[in-house]
Amino acid sequence: MSEARRIRRRWRRGSVDRNLDSRPAGLGKPALAALGRYGVDVSAEERPYGSTPESSAGLKRVRTRHFQRAKEQGIKITGLTSYDYLSAQIFDEAGIDFLLVGDSAGNTVFGYDTTIPVTMDELIPLCAGVVRAVNRALVVADLPFGSYENGPEEALHSAIRFMKETGSHAVKLEGGQRSAKQIKRIVRAGIPVMAHIGFTPQSEHGLGGHMIQGRGDAAEALLADAHAVEEAGAFAVVLEMVPSSVAAQVTAQLTIPTISVGAGPECDGQLLVWSDWAGFTTGRIPKFVKQYAKIGEILLDAAKTFREEVEAGIYPGPEHEYGDS
Ligand code: KIV
Repeated sequence: MSEARRIRRRWRRGSVDRNLDSRPAGLGKPALAALGRYGVDVSAEERPYGSTPESSAGLKRVRTRHFQRAKEQGIKITGLTSYDYLSAQIFDEAGIDFLLVGDSAGNTVFGYDTTIPVTMDELIPLCAGVVRAVNRALVVADLPFGSYENGPEEALHSAIRFMKETGSHAVKLEGGQRSAKQIKRIVRAGIPVMAHIGFTPQSEHGLGGHMIQGRGDAAEALLADAHAVEEAGAFAVVLEMVPSSVAAQVTAQLTIPTISVGAGPECDGQLLVWSDWAGFTTGRIPKFVKQYAKIGEILLDAAKTFREEVEAGIYPGPEHEYGDS
């Protein structure tokens, strides 16, 4: 019996993990959708030293090699930012493939105007909380501005801090050709790196504001950046605010997956800042964001109702009180 047929039969019997199962070549589209994500049987992964049967559940997690398989098999990768335990638990349960503890926390958690001031000391506890929450998603720690620009050794030192102090599974840093040496050094130490090109918020002053990158003649430089990070060993590359046609070219030319943040549908995956995506952000949100919820409005209504009920003596009711015995 062919490998494909065997897996189909196992799938029907329910003995294939539906999240991270094997997927043979040659399955038709409906079968592919039914079989779920990626192309490897993670149950085949060897247990690490000292793990218990219970902790082996942790093996069913997304690895960087699943990103590669996803690209090869045309399965879209999903990512959201996350900065805390509770949101991370929910996104993990929903099957989001990776959670980025982005330096966008500088804006969304700490209230800075840009991502530039946020520090490693501020991001590390957020990252650790997200890592504690997930069973499946790959957690990527964002290296903040000032933690890698001085050179490969500084970059490695910062990446090691995140890996040791938070338990993250990979790091991300901004820049194409200019950051290639840093990426190479970190990868050589065994730490997976997600690259980030196009609009890079840490350089917003250098770029002259929140501008679309790679338009017209600038497309060539963007392609060169993309090839540079792939050659340096990045396992994926974020393309932020890039015209869809240019992102499609990058996606076709690279062997590593491209992750879009406002770079169109041809990329291998999509990533959004969760507070924008969930309607938590107040004020203007970028054109490329689709809001999937209105969390901000729900919280505002709830807070107003709470205030009104406390003021009117409605809350707490008898059901919220402790008796004497
Ligand atoms: O920090 C962040 O959230 C990011 C994404 C927008 C790519 O870098």
